[in-house]
Amino acid sequence: MNLRNRNLLSLINHTKEEINYLISLARYLKQSKYIGNEYPRLKGKNIALIFEKPSTRTRCAFEIAAKDQGANVTYIDSKSSQIGIKETIKDTAKVLGRMFDAIQYRGYSQKIIEELAKNSGIPVFNGLTNEFHPTQVLADILTMLEHCNNKPLNKIKYSYLGDARYNIGRSLLLIGAKMGMDVRIAAPKQLWPEEKFFIFCNNIAKKNNAKILLVEDPFLAVKNVDFIYTDVWVSMGESEEVWCERIKSLSKYQINKEIIKASNNYKVKVMHCLPSFHNNETLIIKNLFKKNEFIKNNNNLVNGLEITEEIFESAFNISFEQVENRIHTIKSIMVATFS
Ligand code: CP
Ligand code: NVA
Repeated sequence: MNLRNRNLLSLINHTKEEINYLISLARYLKQSKYIGNEYPRLKGKNIALIFEKPSTRTRCAFEIAAKDQGANVTYIDSKSSQIGIKETIKDTAKVLGRMFDAIQYRGYSQKIIEELAKNSGIPVFNGLTNEFHPTQVLADILTMLEHCNNKPLNKIKYSYLGDARYNIGRSLLLIGAKMGMDVRIAAPKQLWPEEKFFIFCNNIAKKNNAKILLVEDPFLAVKNVDFIYTDVWVSMGESEEVWCERIKSLSKYQINKEIIKASNNYKVKVMHCLPSFHNNETLIIKNLFKKNEFIKNNNNLVNGLEITEEIFESAFNISFEQVENRIHTIKSIMVATFS
């Protein structure tokens, strides 16, 4: 397997075998770290971490993974650097390409990361764009495998409930199609992935004997699945104005007791990329409640939006295991790129 100097922009250009390799390498690196015999393979490498949107997990995972492997990182945000304001992405790419060995980019359109990759001459890793979040779903597949006692991927069923037009919904659809899994996406029609992308994934699914279902009914989507996945209803970069409409259209996709029951699987696990609005304690939700009569009067939402507090705080929730696996899978990407 040779992933040397490769970009990781979306997983579209990675084969099933390459994805399997990244996951196996992540398992190996996780084990090595646990038993204390990790060997630093990235000594002398310098990695630029560009964050045009905020991050806790992705930034920490890149920093820890790099440090564990002996690499240096430089954090660059768009407020304190010239990126996008005084300097074009093309020029930024050329500058960083002369200084660093790789770039991690988190930001807006997929076009931006493609422009960076085209002009930097060094590998570029996607730490989240509007369209894709590949490092997240690699960690998610590793977490699923760990929870299924190594059941093969083509026997694992998962559903995603929520905004399916965005990075997490799209990446879960793509990776499941590639890996031959049983993927069910449930969302209101206006939040379905664009038709062209769905057809593209469907063709990949056919080649890999994956099953793909796109429906409006969340209860149908979760029947007999191993995992139920959700994401925030309003993503970074979207306007605050969309909250009200989004809550109206996604309320019935909330992960709650009824949805768990509908899975018909008492061992079902709940996944979330995080951060999550599972109560009204965050600043964003406090402000939303203050400003908005509709939300204030909707009792359902006091105990969580996309997932209820009760389910989030229960043993169904494995989102913190996903968090830890972000380190191991990101490390595996970097090690595969440089060794
Ligand atoms: N899941 C995820 O990408 O989290 P951060 O936004 O904290 O990086
Ligand atoms: N869809 C979310 C994912 C956060 C990890 C967002 O883009 O904000």
